This record gives sequence, C-alpha cells and structure tokens, in this order.
Amino acid sequence: MRWFVTGGAGFIGSNFVRLVLQERPDVEIVNYDALTYAGNLENLADVSDHPRYRFVRGRIQDEASVREAMAGGVDAVVNFAAESHVDRSIVGAMPFIETNVVGTQVMLDVARQAGVSRFVHVSTDEVYGSLGPQGAFTESTPLAPNSPYSASKAASDLLVRAAWHTHGYPTVITRCSNNYGPYQFPEKLIPLMISNALDDKPLPVYGQGANVRDWIHVEDHCRGILAIVERGRAGEVYNLGGRSERANLDVVREILRQLGKSESLIRYVKDRPGHDLRYAIDCTKAESELGWTRTWDFTAGLAQTIRWYRDHADWWRRVRDGSYQKFYDLWYADR
Ligand code: NAD
Ligand code: TYD
Repeated sequence: MRWFVTGGAGFIGSNFVRLVLQERPDVEIVNYDALTYAGNLENLADVSDHPRYRFVRGRIQDEASVREAMAGGVDAVVNFAAESHVDRSIVGAMPFIETNVVGTQVMLDVARQAGVSRFVHVSTDEVYGSLGPQGAFTESTPLAPNSPYSASKAASDLLVRAAWHTHGYPTVITRCSNNYGPYQFPEKLIPLMISNALDDKPLPVYGQGANVRDWIHVEDHCRGILAIVERGRAGEVYNLGGRSERANLDVVREILRQLGKSESLIRYVKDRPGHDLRYAIDCTKAESELGWTRTWDFTAGLAQTIRWYRDHADWWRRVRDGSYQKFYDLWYADR
C-alpha cells in the first residue's frame, strides 16, 4: 500500500510518517512537502534512507507537480499540508488561502482523478469558533471560524465535504485540538515558552493568560489519524481531543515549574486580535466508533516534551533563525 502524505516535514506530519513506518510494515510513504519555514527534513533525518519512504518537494496547489508525484499509484492521501499559525494569518492571510483553500481543492481533484480511494483531511477544532465557559464542540457544532487561519481551514473542510456530496469521493475529515510534543515549530505556545524559558527570555502571554485550550500529545493525535485512515467511514467528520483543558497561564506556569525557572519571566502582552476564548472538544464519536483514546497525561506529556526540547536545543535554535526571527521581531515588537 502506498500513502501520499502532504506536509510530512512539519510537526504533526513528521510524527505521523515515523509512526506509520514503525507500525505498518505494509505501507510505503510518499512525503510531499513544499518545505516552507515550518517544514524541515531534519524532522525525518532518522528515516530518510528508509526503504519504504520517499520525499518529493512540491506545493499542494501545483496541480502538475502533485499529479507527477502521485504517478505509480496511491492508495490513500493524508492531507496535513497547511499554513498553521494563527498569528501569521493575522499579519497576512493570502498564503493561508493559497495553501489551505486552493491547495486542498487541487489535492481533491488530482486524487479523485487518479482514483485514490481514500482521502483524509486533517483539520482543526478551531473551525467551530469559540466557546464560553461551558460546553464542548461536537461534530455537528456549526462552523464559525474567527481567524483567517481557521476560516481557511473551514473553507477547506467545506470543499472536502463537497467532494463527497457532489462526486461521491470518499473523504474523511479529522478535527483535533491543540497538539504539543517533539518537533513542534517554536512559534506555537508550548515550544515557544519552553525555548524562551531555557534561554531566560521573556514569555509573552497574551492578555491575562485566561484563554483555554484542550491539549493533546502529538502521538495520540497521530494514532487517531491512523485509526481514521484505516477505519474511518467515508463522508464523516471525527473530532479528536486530549480531554486536557488548561488556561494558558496554567500551562506557562507548569512549564516554568518543571524547568525550575522563576515566574518573573512571564510578560503579559497585548492580546491577539479576535482571540478565541476557549476550545473544548467532545471526541466520544472517535472513542466509541474507532476504539481510539488519548493515552498521554498532560503533565507527563509536557515533561517528555520539555526533555526533548532540552536535548534538541540545536534543532530549535536552527529553525528559529532566519525568516522566523523576522516574524518574531515584527509581531512581538508591537506587543
Ligand atoms: P506545521 O506548520 O508544523 O507543518 C505544515 C507543513 O506543511 C510544513 O512541513 C510545510 O512545509 C508544509 N506546507 C505548507 N504549505 C505547503 C504547500 N503549499 N504545499 C506543500 N506543503 C506545504 O503544521 P502542523 O502543526 O504539523 O499541522 C499540520 C496539520 O494539522 C495542519 O493542517 C493543521 O491545520 C492541522 N492541525 C494542527 C494542530 C496543531 O495544534 N498544530 C491541531 C489540529 C490540526
Ligand atoms: P497557539 O499555540 O498559537 O495555538 P492556537 O492559537 O492555534 O490555539 O496559541 C495557543 C494559546 O496560547 C492561544 O490562546 C494564544 C496563546 N499564546 C500566547 O499567550 N502567547 C504566545 O506567544 C502565543 C504564540 C500564543
């Protein structure tokens, strides 16, 4: 079997590729990735020579390039490739439209025309918008995205849904909560706070740090996606979550506690515009239908993640340099 993974050089995609190579001896992987600032072949250096792994550089919105990379036959597409950072989408939305919206439609068209019989689209709980203090998103919660990032993901979800309804193309959508774990680009909350704390730099907390996210270890997310590639029903949406809601300030404090650093590193900065207050996810459907559940406890998962960032300072220092540093200076200078 051959699976075509887009965005496999990013955070979740690289964890997924490694998991599949380890646990599915009958699956070959084609990793198709543009290698944007967030994509890094170093994330898969340990499997680069694996006999069942092949990397192709390309953008998902380039139809001819996708078609060529799929030549030889593909059994399933797993579409991770995306622009993924909310703050960047506030600074400039167009790359999000080009990759997340146009790119997803190109992937759907090429995969359908090539006869690929499974298409799993990796989406996010952020498409549901923001919750008040109570309740949780279910698969039937109406889509109400609030950031250019989540709006572009919601648009892609609707195109995936339309491919199923219009063409009978067997697609499945996953919507997961906030991931953390090894290889996450240090622009996102947890790796940003860990790497800044390790360097004794200020930790920029938006507003009062009261916004709530549900945290899931990336390995649990990848196992959920694997179950959905293998057993998810066509035309369905599956929520995936960590059943670990935390206010941002509590996450930051826990990181400082585990690192033995002072809370005086915390800086309360200007809030993100349009900042969603709370995400919480009801993943009963995936649990009961697929027998999947998260296994990592948040405190233990965070400890493992902190150890990984301590041991891989050369990795995050390298990826933090260059174009990301320019974004960091621009975004945080104004906060
Ligand atoms: P990431 O930013 O770490 O990686 C994205 C990858 O996609 C990179 O390797 C990048 O090079 C590649 N890419 C970007 N544009 C491309 C293009 N036009 N063509 C081909 N490749 C391109 O993102 P991530 O955190 O690993 O997220 C992966 C997917 O999971 C995304 O679709 C995201 O919306 C979704 N998701 C993420 C989270 C999270 O907490 N990180 C939660 C739920 C869902
Ligand atoms: P992030 O990791 O960007 O994920 P998302 O916005 O997709 O949920 O942010 C997680 C939470 O952390 C979110 O409420 C915004 C907050 N945050 C900060 O307080 N400071 C920061 O520097 C960043 C990047 C995020």
